Amino acid sequence: MQLGSLKLTNNLMLAPLAGVTDMIFRVYAKRFGCGLVFSEMINSNSVLHGGIKMHKKMHIHAEEFPAGIQLAGDDPTIMSEAAKMAEDAGAAILNINMGCPAKKVTKSMAGCALMQHPDLVRKIIRNVSDATQLPLTIKIRLGWDDKTMNYLEIAKIAEGEGCVGLMMHARTRMDRFSGEAKWDEIRNLKENIRIPVIGNGDVTSVQKALELFQASGCDGIMIGRGACGKPWIFKQILDERDNRTPYEPSISEIKNHILNHLDESLEYYGYPLGLVLMRKHFTWYTQGLSYSREFRHKIQTEMDLVKVKKLIHEYFDEKDLQRQGL
Ligand SMILES: Cc1cc2nc3c(=O)[nH]c(=O)nc-3n(C[C@H](O)[C@H](O)[C@H](O)COP(=O)(O)O)c2cc1C
Repeated sequence: MQLGSLKLTNNLMLAPLAGVTDMIFRVYAKRFGCGLVFSEMINSNSVLHGGIKMHKKMHIHAEEFPAGIQLAGDDPTIMSEAAKMAEDAGAAILNINMGCPAKKVTKSMAGCALMQHPDLVRKIIRNVSDATQLPLTIKIRLGWDDKTMNYLEIAKIAEGEGCVGLMMHARTRMDRFSGEAKWDEIRNLKENIRIPVIGNGDVTSVQKALELFQASGCDGIMIGRGACGKPWIFKQILDERDNRTPYEPSISEIKNHILNHLDESLEYYGYPLGLVLMRKHFTWYTQGLSYSREFRHKIQTEMDLVKVKKLIHEYFDEKDLQRQGL
């Protein structure tokens, strides 16, 4: 798939997820075949003020290439400056967040609030495009609420201002994450603009991925929550598409994956932050596995690294024995 000058190996993308899609997670998604990864949203005001945390958010590993950086904000000048910094940091493509429903973001005019201000959307896209050489995309929702679903208006602005693609999470801001994503609206968008449309919302399995392509005719899909605890979902979809049996990791592969993830998190963030940040991943990796509640309960409060690793070994080795009927 092609997004402007950027050629991708496939049309599967990792959605930006604040607090989740850090460099480590993105590299895993890439290793499992994801065509394009995006950073979590980076507040453009904070970029200019720097700091270690911001440096880590902007850090792109060679293995991620091509990676996108997502910027949030509402000031065209500040966003242009942040875009230049993202380009210097090695981003291959930019994305502007016009979908975040969180109050702390929308109380200014950022995130999904931007969709209520089409003129500002135009100005931001124009300024950011002028500031860098990078292909530019935007990520939107359907609109603020059911009565103001103006995604077509915003999409036309993006297209007119030279955006190379558009990601749409098919819910309104007021929906937040409730109900089902309205894939029909993605089809409507696809039928009404020429730039690539990347559909997003509720893809949690191979089957759902195929259904979204089928239902909407979208050019690519973006997966967020469905990749949490399952970064191999990209490989599974590619396997299915290429008529291979979709990859299903064994219990011991999942165990090794978690242990590696933990080690990399500790190396990148240090102790204790690297451990604390892993807690949500422990939950996701074990969701749906038997007796996982007890495992999660124990591991969520354990600060001793030796004990944490022991808990992981014990839980998964026990599961492996159960699987073998021993
Ligand atoms: C924990 C979490 C963090 C998110 N952070 C971002 C973000 O930083 N930028 C963004 O555009 N969307 C963000 N989203 C929205 C997702 O990118 C995506 O649009 C949404 O989760 C729907 O896709 P999914 O059903 O595949 O998860 C976030 C969602 C979740 C659950």
